[in-house]
Amino acid sequence: MTKPFIQDLVNDMTLDEKLAQLTQLGPHYWGLDDTVDLTGPFKELNIKPHVIHSIGSVLNGIGARNVMELQTRHLQNSRQRIPLLFMADVIHGYRTILPIPLAMGASFDLAACERFAAIAAKESAAAGIHVTFSPMTDLVRDPRWGRVMETSGEDPYLNALVTASMVRGYQGYDLREKGRIAACVKHFAAYGAPEGGREYNTVDLSSGVLRDFYLPAYKAAVDAGVAMVMAAFNTVDRIPASGNKQLLRGILREEWGFGGVTIADFNSVNELIPHGAAQDGREAAELSLAAGLDIEMMSTHYLAHGAELVEQGRLDAALIDEAVIRVLELKDALGLFDNPFKDADPQADEVAEPSGEHRQAARELAAGCVVLLKNDDQVLPLKRGMKIGLAGPFATSVHVLGGWSGTGQDSAVSLYSGLAQKTSAGDILTAMTGELGSMLEGIFDVADETEEAYSRLKDCDVILVAVGENQQDTGEGGSKSNLRLSPNQEKLVWRLKDTGKPVVTIVFSGRPLELKPVLEASDALVQAWFLGTESGNALADVLFGDYNPSGRLSMSFPYTVGQIPVYYNAYQTGRPYDPEYPQVRYVTRYLDCPNDPLFCFGYGLSYSNFAYSSFTVKRVEDGDQLTASIEVENTSDIAGKETVQLYIRDVSASVVRPVKELKGFRQLLLAPHEKQAVSFEITRDMLMFYGKDDQLIFEPGEFDIMIGRNSGDCSTERIWIG
Ligand code: IFM
Repeated sequence: MTKPFIQDLVNDMTLDEKLAQLTQLGPHYWGLDDTVDLTGPFKELNIKPHVIHSIGSVLNGIGARNVMELQTRHLQNSRQRIPLLFMADVIHGYRTILPIPLAMGASFDLAACERFAAIAAKESAAAGIHVTFSPMTDLVRDPRWGRVMETSGEDPYLNALVTASMVRGYQGYDLREKGRIAACVKHFAAYGAPEGGREYNTVDLSSGVLRDFYLPAYKAAVDAGVAMVMAAFNTVDRIPASGNKQLLRGILREEWGFGGVTIADFNSVNELIPHGAAQDGREAAELSLAAGLDIEMMSTHYLAHGAELVEQGRLDAALIDEAVIRVLELKDALGLFDNPFKDADPQADEVAEPSGEHRQAARELAAGCVVLLKNDDQVLPLKRGMKIGLAGPFATSVHVLGGWSGTGQDSAVSLYSGLAQKTSAGDILTAMTGELGSMLEGIFDVADETEEAYSRLKDCDVILVAVGENQQDTGEGGSKSNLRLSPNQEKLVWRLKDTGKPVVTIVFSGRPLELKPVLEASDALVQAWFLGTESGNALADVLFGDYNPSGRLSMSFPYTVGQIPVYYNAYQTGRPYDPEYPQVRYVTRYLDCPNDPLFCFGYGLSYSNFAYSSFTVKRVEDGDQLTASIEVENTSDIAGKETVQLYIRDVSASVVRPVKELKGFRQLLLAPHEKQAVSFEITRDMLMFYGKDDQLIFEPGEFDIMIGRNSGDCSTERIWIG
């Protein structure tokens, strides 16, 4: 039921005012140049000054003082005194920059994901932001795509849980509550599947693939009460998402019951024209409005053509009213009609340093994301008092916040600074550090390599080499065809190995890189992602064992770029590869590299050792209920966290099913030599899938129930379930 005051506002609006309410512009249209990350084509949109007074929302205007000033001016000029909505890309923290979302996915820690979003919400709310364009829950299988850093990975089940946790963290239970903002899940749908990993490229998926893998996480956001959904740039079944009625009305609203606001991506209504889906701006507006796309972002075809479309009978005026009502309802849910500034607080926003509490949380969150990939001879953790050599372009770099961090402080705690907190003066010897250029500038190399530097490092007990990719080479527009470290970095790792000292390679990246070339040269390998403001402190905690690494990969790390896409939950094929017969040619395989990735989904080591035993799958009572259990023992002297993972394979069905699918996981905190039993109930929901007619069905038959430490290392039992 629409509230009477909202209905009155709509009744009192002219059609042009309604269309302006459905338009989002950058802050410079109000004369405010303080903005972050405007990532689209910039052209003058020829907005008449009086139209500005009726616009509904602002994109990426930042700073509480600016926002309050802009809102005040707007309300003075707005005929109906309708407040503006301020929306921004708060992707991994606002002032306190938190780990990139791909790293958060690797934490497998849902409480941490909720905390991540709650911190970001609190700081953004103080900055006057009402809506964040997060979580980005696009499922990804191709690390060449730069935006894999913004999502939680390749698995629909994990992505769905992470997404729901983040929505709760941003929104809480009441958007009016202080420190809460609305979340906008994106990019609906399947933006994470551009062919070849090339940004904005074609997406072409069968409806089965869409339903099996790509849609579940968006649906989880809707089920968690997300306030807004952003349409993707790409096509879904050959129709651009921004004009795709089947997607935006059919699946989102009718099938899933979404009642909130939908928004275009930057200029995406206009992009229906170069897509070849609309002849001109008028047709683009017609398609998008009819499809149920409420807000047009950074193009103005609704404004230019909406009234004419209604007058010509090409568009039902009721559709425009419905969209306006949804926008006004969101403003009301945020309490903006009572307090148009909501939580904007210049004093809180302008503090020189993010709060100590948030920095501490950022450090803890970051430590939980680090993935230990290799640790031969227990090189790690480092021991206090060791003499540590520190090399590589990320050794002293403060540019490790990760993309989309323009609202935060410029720099993070460097690895060196973090380590220095735990060592005495003179314990760390740095050499061959330098800065890594960006691919865009054509610079791939590390600086100053000298014989003298190598011989100094030979005196150390251990050498840490911090390598990776430039943070600018990740995020939107950050597609790459080569995922190797720059040649000088690979060479550096090997030359350090030649010193005869143990080498710990620490990788800073926003995506899975191709790490095979440095694997043999590294006694230990640590995936450090881009961890945000507290990066160096968190890494030092992990390297010294003050935090026992617990991250698990949420995206496969390829053996070589030629394997991509490589992911764990592929469909079963008719000629599967059998590792017992590696010479057989006519099966699905490569001649020159394994099928498996270098590090699979769910993989990650700990300083503890965990032994799995007593795997059973049991029918309970009347035979309908199934429970799978396993015992996990920490066989080491170090307390640690293990992520026990449940996978299921439907052996035979009316449509081909994946070789395995994650269906549950449990994080156990195990004291030294502690043993715990873990049980998973196998429910009917876990076994259902979308059949030939896109209907969710269950088919009786055989299922493989698997429990283990990662997707490549499980105990399996086959069982018939009727
Ligand atoms: O939110 C982003 C989106 O992810 C990519 N295009 C621009 C939007 C707004 O900045």
